[in-house]
Amino acid sequence: MTPIAALTNHQVRLARRPVGMPTPQDWSFTAEPVVEPSEGGILLRTLALSLDPAMRGWMNEGKSYIAPVAIGEVMRAGGIGEVIASKNPQFAIGTLVSAGVGVQEYALIEAGQAQRFGLHPIDTRLGSPSQWLNVLGMPGMTAYFGLMDVGQPKAGETVVVSGAAGAVGQTVGQLAKIKGCRVVGIAGGPAKCEWVVRELGFDACIDYKAGDVKAGLKQHCQKGVDVYFDNVGGAILDDVLARIGRGARIVICGAISQYNNTAPVQGPRNYLSLLVNRARMEGIVVFDYADRFPVAVKEMAGYLKDGRMKSREDVMAGGVSAFAQALTKLFTGENFGKLILQVAQGPG
Ligand SMILES: NC(=O)c1ccc[n+]([C@@H]2O[C@H](COP(=O)([O-])OP(=O)(O)OC[C@H]3O[C@@H](n4cnc5c(N)ncnc54)[C@H](OP(=O)(O)O)[C@@H]3O)[C@@H](O)[C@H]2O)c1
Repeated sequence: MTPIAALTNHQVRLARRPVGMPTPQDWSFTAEPVVEPSEGGILLRTLALSLDPAMRGWMNEGKSYIAPVAIGEVMRAGGIGEVIASKNPQFAIGTLVSAGVGVQEYALIEAGQAQRFGLHPIDTRLGSPSQWLNVLGMPGMTAYFGLMDVGQPKAGETVVVSGAAGAVGQTVGQLAKIKGCRVVGIAGGPAKCEWVVRELGFDACIDYKAGDVKAGLKQHCQKGVDVYFDNVGGAILDDVLARIGRGARIVICGAISQYNNTAPVQGPRNYLSLLVNRARMEGIVVFDYADRFPVAVKEMAGYLKDGRMKSREDVMAGGVSAFAQALTKLFTGENFGKLILQVAQGPG
């Protein structure tokens, strides 16, 4: 094995704040020597990175649920890493972990930084490393707590989810089916719509790129929408608002249709539908539920094992230098399933 001191860490840093869709000029590439951890610390080799729509928000200046990535800073990213040097008895060499490793090939987590990095070992008996970035990871936890805590679905109710074939959407729909709901997805293109219905068991899926979402909702949600899990915002949110039933719950998870806007965010016009229907809209930030992740992981791992939950990951090769190109796939809809960037091959 190459000695630590001979290793080089290739990194992707935020060079400037993008306007609209991120471009290659928004990033800079650096190479630094890799250093040994100090007492209590560990060194990780990044195996895979989670590419998330939220990254677009982290690139902006301004107040949010988390500080923006600073200009010149290594881009923030969650990922799976392998411990390759350890001065912490809790993390033996070879342990696979999930952590906020950043877009770089090696990550040093010093003593006392475990919580800040969200560091925890992953159990590959429960799911593959890719599944730990999907159903058992941040998107799966978002789906679980957004649906169960905020959406509060009851058996027999109609749940609509946008971004249905994506990381969060695929799990929301399957979980709602497991809980006895009727599930209607909204996704872009026939392949994604067919997949969520045929493979995941959704009751229907509306292809928003093919035409009229309103007409699709009318056809597939004849008794109204009880829970809408919103991943996209914009015009689709308005269309669903026009179709909600009495006491509906709308989970504001994300608004990807708005993330690259250069004009102000398009807010819901049909919000008075909340009044008429005694309904509510509520936002969710997954990190608020961190102390309950183990419970949700256990439940979801059970569904993976018994076959009631499927997971689809879209793994891109190319390492950190492919990051900029990979990220834009989320905004063009080219990803099919949870978008992951492979950085190195795992053990075995
Ligand atoms: N609140 C939280 O804590 C939290 C945590 C995780 C994720 N999120 C949010 O959840 C949403 C989904 O995230 P994800 O990681 O699961 O991503 P994803 O769904 O795997 O990928 C993004 C998908 O968004 C769709 N999309 C892109 N532009 C669109 C547009 N203009 N209109 C409609 N759909 C569009 C595309 O699918 P199509 O091909 O179907 O268009 C694309 O594949 C995002 O809004 C994200 O910010 C929130």
